[in-house]
Amino acid sequence: MPAPDLVVVSNRGPVSFKRDDQGGLVAKRGAGGLVSCLGPAAAGTGALWISCAISDEDRAAADQGIEEAEGFRLESVVVDPDIYRRHYDDIANASLWFAFHRLYDLPHRPVVDREWRRSWEAYRTVNAAVADAVVEHAPEGATVLVQDYHLTLVGRRLAAARPDLRTAHFTHTPFADPAGIRTLPDDAAAELLDGMAGHGACGFHSPRWEANFLACCEEVLGRQPATYVAPAATDVDDICGVADGEACRDELARLDDAVGELLVIGRVDRLELSKNIARGFLAFEDLLATRPEWRERVVFVASVYPSREALPEYQAYAAEVEALVGRINDRWSTSSWTPVLLDTSDFFPRSVALLKRADVVLVNPIRDGLNLVAKEAAVVNERDAVLVLSREAGVFDEVGEHALAVNPFDVAGTSDALHAALSMPAGERRSRAQALAAAAVRRTPADWIADQLAAAAPA
Ligand code: G6P
Repeated sequence: MPAPDLVVVSNRGPVSFKRDDQGGLVAKRGAGGLVSCLGPAAAGTGALWISCAISDEDRAAADQGIEEAEGFRLESVVVDPDIYRRHYDDIANASLWFAFHRLYDLPHRPVVDREWRRSWEAYRTVNAAVADAVVEHAPEGATVLVQDYHLTLVGRRLAAARPDLRTAHFTHTPFADPAGIRTLPDDAAAELLDGMAGHGACGFHSPRWEANFLACCEEVLGRQPATYVAPAATDVDDICGVADGEACRDELARLDDAVGELLVIGRVDRLELSKNIARGFLAFEDLLATRPEWRERVVFVASVYPSREALPEYQAYAAEVEALVGRINDRWSTSSWTPVLLDTSDFFPRSVALLKRADVVLVNPIRDGLNLVAKEAAVVNERDAVLVLSREAGVFDEVGEHALAVNPFDVAGTSDALHAALSMPAGERRSRAQALAAAAVRRTPADWIADQLAAAAPA
């Protein structure tokens, strides 16, 4: 559908640029939930997607004036690399992500020192530059959909400069509760919340995150802005296309060779602190220790691919996960069985093959805005997999009743849930899997976009 009056705004754009062997710039469509959800509304529709140039190659593409790639109309915002790094690493990833997901080890972090203040300045600079690009390029009366915690301050600036625009902000993560927002300095918390309130409405995947945002606004701003709830959806055609493709079939054959007749517990995640990957392995080890009948009958296959590798916390977590898997395999392997197969390469068809083959899918985040893997697994799985799902994932609202619920901190409880899933009779597995798949496709990406368009309003 043509959408010339739509402007999508996000930190990471729908395509990233790389150099080919001859040094030329090549566009690559980004992976991940944001592009798969918003892509259909933007690609080939005339909609404009404004995003930050992240890498040197992205900056070179912007310098060359590349304005179209993979069907997207693009506008890249280029800022000084050190300012961008402070915005992305120090504030978006090391501060807001941690506050929103409750990841802080509070006796040690955060440390809001003068360097942090410089980084907050950089965050404001990037938000202002992105807002100015919208001011310059958005058609009269356009609808502007701003995405995520990297760009919370855009709406307030737009409200002042372009009152003709209809705007909405959507947060893909959980939102901090008042105790979490108080880990930011008072003035920054107030600026962030007021910046979000500067959009026509603020959207969230779950009523829980919406309630947190409203509680923060009430406490800090003394008012409650307009909000809406709109869980994102899996693009069924897209994921089934990958699942039926040759690359996925090859990967499934390789996986079948590796696991044979064993039962498979599968997980697919970014190698990310909020995903609670280490406790998932500890729960599996507890299962092996307390229920010996599963030894040599089940294998845990984990496809966890690197993310945000510039942050020391992520480097340490990746090392911790690898060491833990090494220790578990050293302790429990036999001559014919390795309990954990860890794959840290980033190859989507391989991850989809795992979701097809798994007998149990473990999704146990500490906190998660939504978690599309839980929905994708329900769509592509071919073995009536049981979903073991953290109550702290936004998607629990939609599919939780068909899953086995876990408290993500309760390793023994997660082990018990894995046992229950592995032991479940075939009839119950089938009826749960069918109900899960139906719940997972109840909403479509088009619904999610329609919700945002309906919520967008002049600020
Ligand atoms: C996850 C989150 C999104 C976020 C994205 C950023 O997918 O769910 O809310 O926008 O990460 O990832 P990036 O690789 O750009 O840091």
